[in-house]
Amino acid sequence: MHPTTAGEVSESTDSVIDMVSVDAPFLRACRGEPHDRVPVWFMRQAGRSLPEYKAIRGTGSIITAIRTPDLATEITLQPVRRYGTDAAILYSDIVTPIEAIGFGVDVAPGIGPVVEKPFRSASDLERIRPLDPEADTPYVLETVRNLVRELGDVPLIGFAGAPFTVASYLVEGRPSRTYENTKRLMYTDPELWFALLDRLADLALASLHSQVANGASAVQLFDSWAGALSPSDYVRYVQPASQKVLEGIASTGVPRIHFGVNTGELLTHMRDAGADVMGIDWRVDLDDARKRLGDRTPLQGNLDPTAVLAGADVAIERTRDVLRRADGHRGHIFNLGHGVLPDTDPEVLEQVVAVVHAEGKVR
Ligand code: CP3
Repeated sequence: MHPTTAGEVSESTDSVIDMVSVDAPFLRACRGEPHDRVPVWFMRQAGRSLPEYKAIRGTGSIITAIRTPDLATEITLQPVRRYGTDAAILYSDIVTPIEAIGFGVDVAPGIGPVVEKPFRSASDLERIRPLDPEADTPYVLETVRNLVRELGDVPLIGFAGAPFTVASYLVEGRPSRTYENTKRLMYTDPELWFALLDRLADLALASLHSQVANGASAVQLFDSWAGALSPSDYVRYVQPASQKVLEGIASTGVPRIHFGVNTGELLTHMRDAGADVMGIDWRVDLDDARKRLGDRTPLQGNLDPTAVLAGADVAIERTRDVLRRADGHRGHIFNLGHGVLPDTDPEVLEQVVAVVHAEGKVR
């Protein structure tokens, strides 16, 4: 069942977790089990590409929208309703936990996370206390519970920012191209670096556990900017903290997806951090990613988000190419190689979903 009515919140008394089928194609693909259609969802499927989002989002900070469960619930449902995607992704942000413990971060429209007082020295560690999800982010958990009720058998993906990517915002103070302050800290004061990443791993882990406890049936760890690192630096400075998160959530049994941009050279290391599914950006063809990761790792991806901007004909041709390279493998979840771009025409994405569902064949 797909949610159909905007804003309607049913009063089901069933256990939230029982309502999501473990046999949903998305979850079966995450486990590499046989299923009957190629599942598809899109990173950033909610948001600025959708007129219905702009109509209800308001003009304040995204943090305000995230703190408003009825709004966050509706925004999460909008793309599922429009596209018929096989999974929903919680409307929240990677900085939600760190904002909730009072670090002083906002998300500026058109820019991204901006930090009032960047992390620069050991005294800043005290500004990162442990997250108590029930007390600090009750609005996230209410949204998750609402969603699980509304989504029926469509799984909800919870998520967190990986320690490196969140650290990059805290240290740089804003989005960066070079990550120079982050890397300087990493190279010059590894002790402080590891202490910072350890605290961020604990935040991510606490947040993910609470999302799963309230009904999320898969999680994605976003290490969006890890591609800034060489493989050896990734293994030495970042992998241990991401491993703490991924292994810490393993006991819940939900699939763990691990994603980053420009991470072609890091794929095996990111998988070895403890991922069940690897997200692949568009810079590595899926058949090549399959060779790098072997037959047993489900892959998620990887249509170039700009191909969707080039109109329906190009988008469909490229969609078919992704399906061809995935070769009907049971472990394939169709997605873009990164998030939906704001100028995307939703009608083109609708056609992409239709092609994946009509033409994708699982061996
Ligand atoms: O559909 C979804 O995926 C919605 C949930 C979601 C958001 N952010 C909402 C959002 C998710 C999964 C994220 C994760 C996130 N946030 C990441 C990892 C994913 C990725 O794209 O690599 C990162 C790096 C962030 C930090 C962040 N937040 C950035 C870089 C931006 C973009 C700034 C801009 O406006 O261009 C945001 C803002 C943001 N997060 C928006 C949304 C829908 C758009 C701004 C808004 O509506 O106010």
